[in-house]
Amino acid sequence: MHSVKPPAVSQRARNIAISGIKEMAMRAAKIEDVASLTWGLPSFRTPDHIRQGVEARLESDPDIGKYALPDGLPELRAAVADEHFRATGVAVDRDRNVIITAGNMQGMNALFHTVIDPGDEVIVTDPGFSSHIQQIRLCNGVPVPWPLAESGGWELDVETLPGLITERTRAIVLVTPSNPTGKIFAEDQLRRIGDIARNHNLFILLDDPYHHFTYENRARYFNLTSLPEFSGHVAYLFTFSKAHAMSGWRLGYMVVPEELKRQVLKVHDATIICAPRISQVAGLIALSEGPAHVAAFENILGQRRDLICDRLDRVPHVFDYVKPEGAYYVFPRIVAAHETSQDFSIKLLEEARVCVTPGTAFGAAGEHHVRMAFCVAEDMINKAFDRIERNFPK
Ligand SMILES: Cc1ncc(COP(=O)(O)O)c(C=O)c1O
Repeated sequence: MHSVKPPAVSQRARNIAISGIKEMAMRAAKIEDVASLTWGLPSFRTPDHIRQGVEARLESDPDIGKYALPDGLPELRAAVADEHFRATGVAVDRDRNVIITAGNMQGMNALFHTVIDPGDEVIVTDPGFSSHIQQIRLCNGVPVPWPLAESGGWELDVETLPGLITERTRAIVLVTPSNPTGKIFAEDQLRRIGDIARNHNLFILLDDPYHHFTYENRARYFNLTSLPEFSGHVAYLFTFSKAHAMSGWRLGYMVVPEELKRQVLKVHDATIICAPRISQVAGLIALSEGPAHVAAFENILGQRRDLICDRLDRVPHVFDYVKPEGAYYVFPRIVAAHETSQDFSIKLLEEARVCVTPGTAFGAAGEHHVRMAFCVAEDMINKAFDRIERNFPK
């Protein structure tokens, strides 16, 4: 038998990489009893009332197993419009502005496919969420890193933004509170970015998994979609994954200008048809039953944040860090001797059985840092830091 070459795969697929977060998670899965602070997967179970409400609908609703309209169930879109008005004071129309998605990853992917032609540029914060970079590349777009400085507390540096904008720039991606730094970006910076985007006719894509989780400087959180003057340039995406402990349900929504909805809906329909209907029913329950469970999660995450900061304070010879204000990540700088954040993380896994994500998974500015997710149970945080203390005696 002659050997057969495997059929070719696209250059686009070959150009992208699996995220550094998942890569570390897969390495850790081969080792027993790892204390993992790698994955931003909250420990919470989907709240009882959401699960029970869905259970009842499974019995009573003959359409529960069927497709929904591509932009989602009208009653969920109406609930989203109400929620958006409550959160921002800006009225949006469920039919003209809202699309229900299968989570923000799918929503962002559909948006990137809608705004990027090959060679177009999209500005992303560095450090920032690594999957955005892969998705932009998958569209043959060019991610343009916008470096943030730890010395500035990981705040946006709007002075440097205009220098990154070219004829090919199409959009700026923002996540606040930030993954991986936990920074809540300041209102004045966001307003100035809004002005710059409007002047250059760019979209701002606001990927928002975390605004419900803020601990410090809570009043600083500002949603750019609350300014109607930017509504033609901002696409806002919210996910149920974190705030409602529904990451496996794959549900989110986007609020976008009317013409953008028309365009992105074609991409959404061509690639997924609709978000899972059963998850849309769960989302409707999550939005209509009030925010009690969200506040409870935030409270617990706040305690875990205090714990991880306390534990970091006890190992100043290993890490230095900026206290996270929101989300559930801390992005410490490695003070202990090391070559790269990748080497450090692999060694920490192999020698101490503690899994963290190397900072370079979030961009070049993340070198010499690691990301730790503190959405895991307190026992796990303590186990990881007991091991770190043993591995790096003072
Ligand atoms: C910035 C950001 N966007 C998107 C996601 C994924 O969201 P979803 O589960 O809605 O796809 C995450 C999850 O960690 C995230 O941090």
